Amino acid sequence: MPAAPMTFEITPHKLVYGGAALAYSQGRTVLASGVLPGERAEVESFRAAKGVLRARPVRILSKAPGRVEPPCPYFGVCGGCHYQHLKGQDQITWKTKILRETLRRIGKISWEGQIAVHQAEPWHYRNQAELKVGRNSSGGTALGFFEAESHRLVPIEHCAILSPRLNGTVAQLNEFAVRSRLGDYNEIQLFADDRDERVRILLRGAAVTRQATDLAEDLLSRMGGAIGIVVEAGESRWLAGEGAIRYRVGEFEYRISPGAFFQASRFLISDLVTAVSAGEGGQVALDLYAGVGLFSLPLAKRFSEVRAVESQMAAAEDLRWNAQAAGLGNLRISNQNVQDFLRRYAGPEPDLAVLDPPRAGAGPPVLERLAMLAPRRIRYVSCHPPTGARDLGFLLHRGYRLESVEMFDFFPQTYHIESIARLARSIR
Ligand SMILES: C[S@@+](CC[C@H](N)C(=O)[O-])C[C@H]1O[C@@H](n2cnc3c(N)ncnc32)[C@H](O)[C@@H]1O
Repeated sequence: MPAAPMTFEITPHKLVYGGAALAYSQGRTVLASGVLPGERAEVESFRAAKGVLRARPVRILSKAPGRVEPPCPYFGVCGGCHYQHLKGQDQITWKTKILRETLRRIGKISWEGQIAVHQAEPWHYRNQAELKVGRNSSGGTALGFFEAESHRLVPIEHCAILSPRLNGTVAQLNEFAVRSRLGDYNEIQLFADDRDERVRILLRGAAVTRQATDLAEDLLSRMGGAIGIVVEAGESRWLAGEGAIRYRVGEFEYRISPGAFFQASRFLISDLVTAVSAGEGGQVALDLYAGVGLFSLPLAKRFSEVRAVESQMAAAEDLRWNAQAAGLGNLRISNQNVQDFLRRYAGPEPDLAVLDPPRAGAGPPVLERLAMLAPRRIRYVSCHPPTGARDLGFLLHRGYRLESVEMFDFFPQTYHIESIARLARSIR
């Protein structure tokens, strides 16, 4: 049975990964969202699990100096943002602290060096959105995002972290929803190109029927800037218009098909590519978890040979297409999982290995194989500090030393942290 809600006072001392503030109250560990370190707040518990009480603020009794008025009317209800009540520079300070502490706590790495920070415009930065479809209070179809840790819809008209084009698309979709069967779907994915002009719309959650394809055709004809509407039902996809977004980063243009991963924050992508590839060069580089080749293409300009590994078929096909369009014949693409690739790899000792795994990280079996191949340098890109720290800790026990750590604030207003660690082999 869920514990009855309790109201009590806390003064958190820090923010922790996940967006909440950590406090102790009468021997209990409390994680509270919407409260800042140093503040005194009356909070109400809403869940107890694994010895931790989750709580939300009832009243802020004394405010921290870093508290600001959240500009978004949905903040605090919508689950998309966690830090709009915290000054931008303080968000960066806390993310850097959290990254350092996660390295220490999970990776057992005491990194005393600097953590260089890359930051950009903190609003309207997302080039992709995953809208949920549901009902508004009067029973009509509504688009929005889920409340935090819930499947309750928060209908939205506008989102402060989506690009202007995506906000325009949300407004058009809201209008279209009033007189169409958009409510048959449960999710709508949007993806805008690098110029924030052209958008791909993917509808998910209903069968590909005649009615669905008619709706997609109708939607395409009415949506300014839309290049294509994809209707996805399980493994099958149906397309009106164009399915692939073309996205330019630096000197390369990338084709990105439905289902293929691409970075979702538009202002820091080229900084990330530079951080991975600048100053690099040599005979052989491995780009593991390569996606559509964001790093593989620039690396192929700097190395005699690049081996790119990507398990998802659509992304691997895009990668092949992107390499060919860029005239890069020295890029070899393996459409398989990284572990299998490393187990069978019989090429020369790599000069560099880039790893950019999903949130689960690479994990010990992959890293054990990688360490046996002994690339001279490793660039580890992480979108999830706990697994990133675990993986770095592992590599440090396999003869690598940590040379630098950089933090990319890809997702301001949220708790998400992107980072790059540079490692060099110290023994052989
Ligand atoms: C975080 S994305 C990075 C992609 C690319 N580096 C980029 O920045 O655009 C991780 C990629 O790894 C792929 N992936 C996930 N698990 C994999 C595995 N076990 N082996 C190979 N690729 C994998 C995903 O499909 C996705 O494209």
